[in-house]
Amino acid sequence: MLCLAVKADAYGHGIEEVAATAVAEGVEYLAVATVDEAVQLRHAGIELPLLLYSLPNPTELEEIVAHRLTPLVGDAHLAETLNQECRRQGATIDIHLKVDTGMGRIGCPPSETGRLAKSAQSLPGVRLRGVSTHFAAADDRDPALTRTQLQRFERALEAIRAEGIDPGVIHAANSGAVLQYPESYYHMVRPGLAAYGYYPSQEMDRPLELRPVMELRSRIVFLKEVPAGTTISYGATYRTERRTWIGTIPCGYGDGYNRLLSNSGTVLAGGRRLPIVGRVCMDQLMVDCGSTPPELYAEVSLFGPDAGGPDAAELAGLCGTIPYEITCNISKRVPRIYSRDSSAQSRAR
Ligand SMILES: Cc1ncc(COP(=O)(O)O)c(C=O)c1O
Repeated sequence: MLCLAVKADAYGHGIEEVAATAVAEGVEYLAVATVDEAVQLRHAGIELPLLLYSLPNPTELEEIVAHRLTPLVGDAHLAETLNQECRRQGATIDIHLKVDTGMGRIGCPPSETGRLAKSAQSLPGVRLRGVSTHFAAADDRDPALTRTQLQRFERALEAIRAEGIDPGVIHAANSGAVLQYPESYYHMVRPGLAAYGYYPSQEMDRPLELRPVMELRSRIVFLKEVPAGTTISYGATYRTERRTWIGTIPCGYGDGYNRLLSNSGTVLAGGRRLPIVGRVCMDQLMVDCGSTPPELYAEVSLFGPDAGGPDAAELAGLCGTIPYEITCNISKRVPRIYSRDSSAQSRAR
């Protein structure tokens, strides 16, 4: 089975559209971080089981039960408070246990998993339907921590079975594990980034060809020929060395295009890479087009799947971050345009 992570607005791609596509493609589970994201999906008519990857706060228990969400539960207190809320509403919900095998974030220690499963099993409002863990370094070249986590997870599963309890749907694999550890697949895998077309780490082998789903496009809306010695943008951090054409693109950090790409990023226009010159502004950035400018209103790709152009992984490298942050940060004011064939496009004005 497949559980697709659609949290953080489906990594910036648009939660409702991605969820609808996932349903149409036969995905069995969706995963969100917050109760609000899950409620948005229910209001959009999504009926799939919705796993809650992050922990709710106490005021959200009512909505979890009312919308039949599936929380990951790592302690007896949450199981009990969910049970109370279920009784109050006269309802039952499915829960999956979360075991912390080495991520150090949420979940119960493997040694306490048997006890937690037993106490959850005794609660009439909640049905124990799955057990999960999360890898901290499955995208690393070094397999040591992932192998240790798998061993700890196996011990936790044994402890649950030793209580005479069926763990239900067992799941562990994020993108890194889907790509590198088939032994971690169990009943269900939980990729996020790989489904959006990126490897979670630049160091990994590339067993599959992944195609970026998101493309950030804009246009050159202004062109001017300037002499050598012209300074460009705030702080005058760039000075032209020769007569050249400077193009202005109406996209900036207000659209989620990282300001760290000032004087370092490039865009693709008409098959050519044009360097960003000067600081990226909130709403605009400038590129050096050299002696032969593209046409006014020529389309540019700021990142995406185009051969020869930058992708989110390249921008992430320049910004000292990861591709997740590049796609997640594309702001709401950038209209999302969805195309059926291969990619969703995200278009700056
Ligand atoms: C619990 C859990 N499972 C799966 C994923 C998907 O991770 P990735 O996007 O690296 O595949 C995440 C993402 O953060 C997560 O928190």
